Amino acid sequence: QQAEEFGEVLLAWYDRHARELPWRVPPGEARRADPYHVLLSEVMLQQTTVAVIRKRFGEFLERFPTVSALADAEEGAVTDAWAGLGYYRRARSLHACAKAIMEEHGGVFPQTEDKLRGLPGVGDYTAAAIASIAFGEPAVVVDGNIERIVARVALVTDELPKGKKAIKAAAAELMPESRPGDYAQALMDLGAGVCRPKGPDCLLCPVRSFCKAAGTAYAESLPRKAPK
Ligand code: ADE
Repeated sequence: QQAEEFGEVLLAWYDRHARELPWRVPPGEARRADPYHVLLSEVMLQQTTVAVIRKRFGEFLERFPTVSALADAEEGAVTDAWAGLGYYRRARSLHACAKAIMEEHGGVFPQTEDKLRGLPGVGDYTAAAIASIAFGEPAVVVDGNIERIVARVALVTDELPKGKKAIKAAAAELMPESRPGDYAQALMDLGAGVCRPKGPDCLLCPVRSFCKAAGTAYAESLPRKAPK
């Protein structure tokens, strides 16, 4: 089947199977996600599982409900709220990020991938995730889950990290015209529940017919990683 249909089929699956997550706007609702919520969830999820963050996300937001509240907080209060969530360096970057938005962007959250990447602690992945999920920008989001799915669908057999470029190009190719944020999150959900690292469930996969690796031994072996 055609690459351009891949996105549409995946979005239709997401409309029925999206996980309900506290930082997420359910598919079908017209409003956009709050960029602060997306930033916070993405930074939290870099170190900890979805199961843990489901609970901790709301607790953090209760203490620091807005970018402005976070910017005004003492650093110690922010690191306290981060207990159990891994490296405190990330909490400090998040705090610095809130200050930068208030002081350098007049309290207005930057919207483009480029401007987002200039914020403290915001790398390529987080910039693309916020641009697409909160602002509907057609940014190509690639995390470990998405890397795995794309390597399998497009049969990218180069070892990582060498294969990253080919994976990003294939990911861009597979992107639909509409709903970039839902598309990225659909891939995340597919990676978590169906296109798993071990034992991918190809029989249940909505995009099986687009996937060059589906049902073969390749499915589980991709992406190839350089030996440590
Ligand atoms: N993992 C990282 N970011 C995520 C998101 N926005 N939704 C689900 N899982 C994720």
